[in-house]
Amino acid sequence: MMNKKVNVALIGYGYWGPNLLRNLKSYTECNVEYVCDRSLDRLHRVRNHYPNQPVTQDFNSVINNPHIDALVIATPISTHFSLAMRSIEAKKHVLVEKPLTDNAHDGEVLVRAASRRGVKLMVGHTFLFSPPVRKIKEIIDSGGLGSIYYVSMSRVNPGLHQNDASVISDVDVVWDLAPHDISMLLYWLSEEPASVHTCGRGCMRPDVPDVAFINISFPSGVIAEIHLSWLSPVKIRRTMVVGSKKVIIYDDTESIEKVRVFEHGAEFVENESFGEFLWSYQTGDVYAPRLDNYEPLASEIKHFLDCIVNDNNPITDGLAGLQVVRTLDAASKSLLEATNTFGEGSNGGNGQHDRKPEHDLS
Ligand SMILES: NC(=O)c1ccc[n+]([C@@H]2O[C@H](COP(=O)([O-])OP(=O)(O)OC[C@H]3O[C@@H](n4cnc5c(N)ncnc54)[C@H](O)[C@@H]3O)[C@@H](O)[C@H]2O)c1
Repeated sequence: MMNKKVNVALIGYGYWGPNLLRNLKSYTECNVEYVCDRSLDRLHRVRNHYPNQPVTQDFNSVINNPHIDALVIATPISTHFSLAMRSIEAKKHVLVEKPLTDNAHDGEVLVRAASRRGVKLMVGHTFLFSPPVRKIKEIIDSGGLGSIYYVSMSRVNPGLHQNDASVISDVDVVWDLAPHDISMLLYWLSEEPASVHTCGRGCMRPDVPDVAFINISFPSGVIAEIHLSWLSPVKIRRTMVVGSKKVIIYDDTESIEKVRVFEHGAEFVENESFGEFLWSYQTGDVYAPRLDNYEPLASEIKHFLDCIVNDNNPITDGLAGLQVVRTLDAASKSLLEATNTFGEGSNGGNGQHDRKPEHDLS
């Protein structure tokens, strides 16, 4: 396919689809054959922006079209498995928006199917293509932080739908917000969790958790906590990676200096007067590493096209996406088991999910 354009169809033109289409159209090596959405209203919006863009409501006509090489799927999470599976069976490469599926079993089936059919399966973990996340990976891999002790992450904002009882969403706060943080954690640490424990609560609707605290432990000993909420009046996107030599604070809401590195450490030193050994804490310089300047989604789309043309394995391939889903699944089960552990009425109908044994992933 070296000199051939990649013919792509975009499935789903809701909130995220327009960003994908804009980026797909920016690459000359890509031709958007169709935009497919089951909503006519959404297809009218496509034509308003791009009058010559072919559109369709019929997904079957897309997968049966022999000119189409690849599909980009940006539909609700509960539809990912069936749409991606049918695309793979039709021997089309697939970029599925995050998370890959809404349960680990379906993710495993997709990964096996893509391997059997010899097509690329990539997941849209956009943050792994962002300059700050790439820079942090570079610092960690160079040993710059020393050994990593723990990671603390906050991703909170006002929820879009949760105070509108008429809107049914197919996600809770864990499946909506945690894919980003979990994908970053697994990418930075290059390991999968050993255990996951979640405490959460559905405050607005008892059946839909809108605040959660996920605790994860890794085989290396690193521990991580992720705070997620749809109930915060302000948007916070803050991560702290604490190592034995340095600490990184990454604030994605900052326009400049998103990443700051703090020289910091503690060592055992001899107290000369008393001949005792004491812990000594050192603080030092703070610096903001230079970050590249590009749109993460543009880089993600380019990577997908390059992987198809050059027959490479995507960084966020099906297996990487599956590892994120396994962690999400464990976090969700931990919430559910908490409810079961304390029996009906244990949360008093107030949606509280709490205090369960850790969900072991080993
Ligand atoms: N990478 C990111 O940073 C990022 C950001 C936002 C959303 N997302 C992901 O993008 C996906 C879509 O999210 P959204 O917020 O755009 O959802 P949305 O509900 O706003 O849009 C989904 C669209 O898909 C269409 N659709 C549903 N089922 C369909 C089907 N079977 N065939 C054709 N069209 C269908 C709907 O009509 C709708 O227009 C989700 O997986 C979400 O997690 C990723």
